[in-house]
Amino acid sequence: MSQKRTTVKAHPNIAFIKYWGNAIPDLRLPSNGSISMNLQGLDTVTSLSENNKGAFHSLEINGEKQDSIKTKRISAFIEKARELYGFSGYLDVRSQNNFPMGAGIASSASAFAALATAINDFYALDLSEKEISALARLGSGSACRSIPDGFTMWKTGTTHEGSYATSIVPVNHWELYDYILIVNKDEKKISSTEGHHLSATSPFQSVRIHDAKRRLKICKSAILDKDFEKLSDIIELDSDMMHAVMMTSNPPITYWQPDSIAIMKKVRALRKRGIACAYTMDAGPNVHVICTASDLNKVKENFKQFKGIDQALLAKTGFGARVIQP
Ligand code: DP6
Repeated sequence: MSQKRTTVKAHPNIAFIKYWGNAIPDLRLPSNGSISMNLQGLDTVTSLSENNKGAFHSLEINGEKQDSIKTKRISAFIEKARELYGFSGYLDVRSQNNFPMGAGIASSASAFAALATAINDFYALDLSEKEISALARLGSGSACRSIPDGFTMWKTGTTHEGSYATSIVPVNHWELYDYILIVNKDEKKISSTEGHHLSATSPFQSVRIHDAKRRLKICKSAILDKDFEKLSDIIELDSDMMHAVMMTSNPPITYWQPDSIAIMKKVRALRKRGIACAYTMDAGPNVHVICTASDLNKVKENFKQFKGIDQALLAKTGFGARVIQP
C-alpha cells in the first residue's frame, strides 16, 4: 500500500498595511491589524508524510535536508499543533519554492500557511479556514494572511482563537501585480522576529499603532473601490511608517539601501507621470512595486536599465493556501 501523503500549495503575501510588533509575542498576537495580497507566481508546494525513521520531524526544502535551526522552528510548530489538536506521529516535511530563497521574499509566510493547511488535511482535523489561519499564525504571524483568498485582513484579536485573517475580496476582484526588485540577495541580518521584539523601543511605534485603524480603513476601502490612487498613498505611508519605527528602534535597524531609495523615488516620479504604481518594502532592502495590469509593461520598461537591480520577480493577486493532489 502506498504511504499516505498530503500536498498543499501556498503563496507568500505582500502587506499593504504592515504587521510590526506583537502585543503577546509567544502567541504572535500582533500590536496592530494588517492587510495583504497573496502573491501568485511565487509558489510553495509542501507535502507531508509519516516519518518512520524515528521520533523526530524532518525537513527538506528544494531537495536539500535542512539544518537544525530551520528544522527546529518547523518541529516546534508541529508540536504546538499537536498540543492543540492531539494527533500523534512524526512528519517528513518536503517543500519546494519556485522563488529564490534568501532573496528577502518572506518564505516563512507561505511555508507555515502550507504546513498548517497540510496538517489539517493529513490528520483530518476538519478545521475551519479561521482555525487554520490562527494555527498558521503560531508559525509566522504573516502566514495567517496566506490562508484566505485574494486580499486579506488580519485583525489583532486578544486570544489565540480570535486572531486570524479573513478575505476582504477574492482573487478575481482586482488583478494587481507585484514587480519585486531585488537589490540585495543576501540573507537579512536582522530577522522579522527580532525586529518585532525591538519595535516597542521606538518612540514612533505607539503613534504607528494608534493610527493603524485609520490606515486599515482607508486601505480596505481603496481595495473594495479598486481606487489605485488611494491605495498608493496609504501603502507608501504605511511602509514608510514601519521603516521609521525600524530606524528609530534601539538598536536601530536600517533595511533601506541607496538603491532602494532610488527605486522608491523613481516609483513616485512614474506615478506623477500617470503610471499606476506604488512602492512598499518589507524587512529587507528589496522594493515591491505594486501596479495595475494595464501599467505593468510601462513599469517594467522604466526599470529595465535601472542601476542596482540584481533581479526582478513578478507575482499577481493570488489564491489562498489549498490542498492539491500529488
Ligand atoms: C515586515 O510574519 O515574518 O513582512 O511572526 O516573527 O515570523 P514572524 O514575523 P513575520 O513578519 C512580517 C513582517 C513584515 C510585515 C508584514 O508582512 O506584515
